[in-house]
Amino acid sequence: MLKIKNIEFKNNLFAAPLAGFTNKAYRIFLKEFPVATVVSEMISDCALMYNNQETINMLDVENEPHPIVLQIFGGKKETLISGIKILEAKANYDILDINLGCPVNKVVKGNAGSAWLKKGRENELYETMKTIVEISSKPVSAKIRIGWDQNSINCVEIAKILEKAGVQLLFVHGRTRKALYSGSCNYEMIKKVKEAVKIPVIANGDIDSPIKAKEVLDYTKADGLMIGRASLGNPYLFTRIDKYLNEGLLINEATLNMQIGYVIKHYEMLKQLKGEFKATREMRSIAPRYFKGFNNTKDYRISFTKISSSSDFYKIIDEIKLANNLE
Ligand SMILES: Cc1cc2nc3c(=O)[nH]c(=O)nc-3n(C[C@H](O)[C@H](O)[C@H](O)COP(=O)(O)O)c2cc1C
Repeated sequence: MLKIKNIEFKNNLFAAPLAGFTNKAYRIFLKEFPVATVVSEMISDCALMYNNQETINMLDVENEPHPIVLQIFGGKKETLISGIKILEAKANYDILDINLGCPVNKVVKGNAGSAWLKKGRENELYETMKTIVEISSKPVSAKIRIGWDQNSINCVEIAKILEKAGVQLLFVHGRTRKALYSGSCNYEMIKKVKEAVKIPVIANGDIDSPIKAKEVLDYTKADGLMIGRASLGNPYLFTRIDKYLNEGLLINEATLNMQIGYVIKHYEMLKQLKGEFKATREMRSIAPRYFKGFNNTKDYRISFTKISSSSDFYKIIDEIKLANNLE
């Protein structure tokens, strides 16, 4: 079983950090599925320093099942250290993850996220990560991409730097910063990272089925998998992958009835965390995902994008149930 210091994971399937989604409510919800853990949305070091209320709210992990992984991003050693000190003071988490992969312009402009992978920053990266490991009372993980662009794929070198700095767990998304989310994932480079370091390596990118999960694990020899987009609105994917990897069983996808149960639970937990107004707005883009792939749900999916209240949400749920003869 995968273990980092004294933290033991129940399996090797990590739910990827997804800004806008992996908040406390969703993390608690997902942790009922077979996941090692769910990484938090990325938290800005500077926003922590400015005491931004929404960012401070992201540090609320009370009553969340452990292990809890909080992810921070920042472009400078000094601000990262200040941010981490605030994290340590305010949140009871288990692992500190450093975002070294975010490709978003706004983030990269601040020298954060995947800007850390740029050639010429190796020493700065090493010094920064070494200091973070020294000051952090929690084990440190890092999430990277395979490089800045196709001409500078340097994930093997980066992985070695991170290992030397004391990072204990590495998540690798098999794309460059330049590729954003296009093109196919380069699992070969993830395999090379795994061969190059002794710390556990978790493969990430485009894993959307039990078969794909096994293929990526077998090919890369990674210690685990990280799954993001494909599990949004499809948390049962973790159950299916876990069953397939551990028991060789290819079980069916979740039924419509199961999806209805999941979306209701997700919504109710989000309401508890954020209140009806915010939760309902967020569900506009989340709820339709639960009904993708089912026959005759297109109109309902569109209706979900316009909901303004809990009663709007449940009205659509009732219509789906009625149309499908569900209780
Ligand atoms: C909407 C969205 C938000 C994301 N937010 C984060 C984030 O906060 N931190 C991070 O490290 N990666 C973030 N990612 C990247 C994912 O964690 C993951 O690496 C990427 O989606 C590839 O995995 P997948 O193909 O399984 O989705 C985000 C991706 C998406 C699509």
